[in-house]
Amino acid sequence: MFSLNGKTVVVTGGGRGIGRGIARAMAKAGADVLITGRSAGPLAETLAELRALGATADTVATDIMSFAGIAEVVAAGLALGGRNTIDCWVNNAGSAAPGDVGPLIDMDERQWDAVVDLNLKWTFFAAQAAARVMTSGGSIVNISSRSGSQPCPMTGNYGAAKAGVENLTATMAVEWGHLGIRVNAIAPGVVLTESATAMASESRRRRQIETVPLRRLGEVDDVGPLAVYFAADESSWTSGTVVQVTGGSRIPVGVLSYLHKINRDAEAREAAGA
Ligand SMILES: NC(=O)c1ccc[n+]([C@@H]2O[C@H](COP(=O)([O-])OP(=O)(O)OC[C@H]3O[C@@H](n4cnc5c(N)ncnc54)[C@H](OP(=O)(O)O)[C@@H]3O)[C@@H](O)[C@H]2O)c1
Repeated sequence: MFSLNGKTVVVTGGGRGIGRGIARAMAKAGADVLITGRSAGPLAETLAELRALGATADTVATDIMSFAGIAEVVAAGLALGGRNTIDCWVNNAGSAAPGDVGPLIDMDERQWDAVVDLNLKWTFFAAQAAARVMTSGGSIVNISSRSGSQPCPMTGNYGAAKAGVENLTATMAVEWGHLGIRVNAIAPGVVLTESATAMASESRRRRQIETVPLRRLGEVDDVGPLAVYFAADESSWTSGTVVQVTGGSRIPVGVLSYLHKINRDAEAREAAGA
């Protein structure tokens, strides 16, 4: 329905997970697609897939957490398709590695910085770099998380970073609207990527599914279609929004799990007469 023919789209973290799904959706809609990430292997795999879909596509293997890395991506985006423009920039690179999260009472500066720098600081500077070259307007799509609008026991630094992304999305939309730049965010619920699958036990998965009215967790291809809409001209009057893609879930499973554990521990202490 939405055609991205003639548009250049950059997807950070586009080699794996949700980013790969977004890159695939953009390519199917007709965009030229540049994907970035640190690891060459997943980028090469996804690149082959995008080209098989008929897209003009390329990769940049670089760390997005530096001005030099961002500049490299911007330059490659401008060069792709020979149009010297980037129409849509998807700020998808992000994560919260298990060693970088935990209870706030024990959190140290290294953990805080690892998560907040990747998910907030460098998301901002990447958006700024994209906006600076969007001289005839464009669309920036920030990938937040449902964690950005709910308490996040055991991943508080991640939730705070994503809340910051959503707030910045609103401010960028106001400051850059007169430049013809739209800024929106997508906040997914739990999406079954390889890294998410590796991190959760079977019982946690079951609890997560039980909180989703549509009775399944997300797949990487569930997020891309909305990103296509935000990249397309049809969304030319939509800016500053955050759309949740969660299977209808409103129940913060992390809070439930945490309280469940606290209550179990308290019962065990009582039973032991402590
Ligand atoms: N999966 C979920 O349930 C879920 C839910 C809500 C929101 N999200 C958000 O969705 C986005 C994608 O998450 P995902 O689950 O698809 O993660 P993923 O499978 O771990 O993929 C993360 C991507 O980001 C790239 N990346 C990470 N750090 C980078 C860096 N310093 N420089 C360049 N690239 C970097 C990774 O590539 P390399 O490792 O090769 O660099 C990879 O392509 C993130 O912003 C995440 O917070 C995910």
